[in-house]
Amino acid sequence: MRIDNNIRYYTQPISNRTSFTSLFRLSSCQDSFGVYHITQNSTECRDDLNYDELAKIAKKRFEKYEKINIMPMNGSDGTESYCIANSILKIFGESESKKRIFPIVVSDIDPDIIENYGKKGIIALGEKDENLFGKNLSKYFESTNMSELPDIAIYPKNAKAYKLKPEFKENFKFEVMDFMNRLKTTKDEGNSIILIRNCLAQSYTRLERTFLFCELDNIMHNNSLFVIGGYDRANIPNLVNDLKTYGFKEVGKNIFSKNSNIYNKFAEPMIKQKNFFSDFIRKIKNKL
Ligand SMILES: C[S@@+](CC[C@H](N)C(=O)[O-])C[C@H]1O[C@@H](n2cnc3c(N)ncnc32)[C@H](O)[C@@H]1O
Repeated sequence: MRIDNNIRYYTQPISNRTSFTSLFRLSSCQDSFGVYHITQNSTECRDDLNYDELAKIAKKRFEKYEKINIMPMNGSDGTESYCIANSILKIFGESESKKRIFPIVVSDIDPDIIENYGKKGIIALGEKDENLFGKNLSKYFESTNMSELPDIAIYPKNAKAYKLKPEFKENFKFEVMDFMNRLKTTKDEGNSIILIRNCLAQSYTRLERTFLFCELDNIMHNNSLFVIGGYDRANIPNLVNDLKTYGFKEVGKNIFSKNSNIYNKFAEPMIKQKNFFSDFIRKIKNKL
């Protein structure tokens, strides 16, 4: 099922906007269990993550690590990752960022959004996004014609079209991937920042979130960080409590780390349950 985003610009606020001011798009994609999820891009709030705070925590926490893996696992059109990179460059400096952090591999389940924005280096920025980049806006982006913006989304009336400048663009690689699949292939050595933000409240059930937390618990090293979104937090009342049950503690706004190994033991039966459920769902799908 594809949802048609047939209008090019919007002027009225759209309810349930969840991530960017820059574009609005509805679609649906199949996850690794074969389940379809409504995917939605956009929001009016960009302040659910303090990007400078994240970069500062990373600098301190990963001091002894040669490499730091920043993994936006539902990175959408790239805006979130460009904001992260802006703060990383500010806090780590250019040469250290290049040596230890870039390229950031940004993944998302939606092939249309990855192919049409991230891979092409095209972005629509609303006023809030532009403010976030401040004086670096013209360092990283150049204005381009509005006609360059892909026809697969609608844009706020005041949005402007930008292209990433080549030196900034080379800091990112974009891939189509379900976050569950990416987690499964992630080998975390304690130097990871995993971001899954602002999609869980859109179409994920509590059981599906349990699978996710089990997988995180399974693969994440205690030193690494997991970052959630403000929209998910506001709309899933037990999100933070559930994370605590899996041994996560908040070390910055919406930034979590694993607490201790005691909880890992506690989560073992849940991991078994998750594997049982994923096999079960696959078997049912194969029969359909
Ligand atoms: C509202 S955007 C959030 C973008 C960004 N993380 C942020 O908070 O600024 C939601 C994105 O999650 C993606 N998404 C939903 N389910 C996913 C999954 N299972 N794996 C990867 N991406 C997913 C959607 O395609 C969409 O691009």
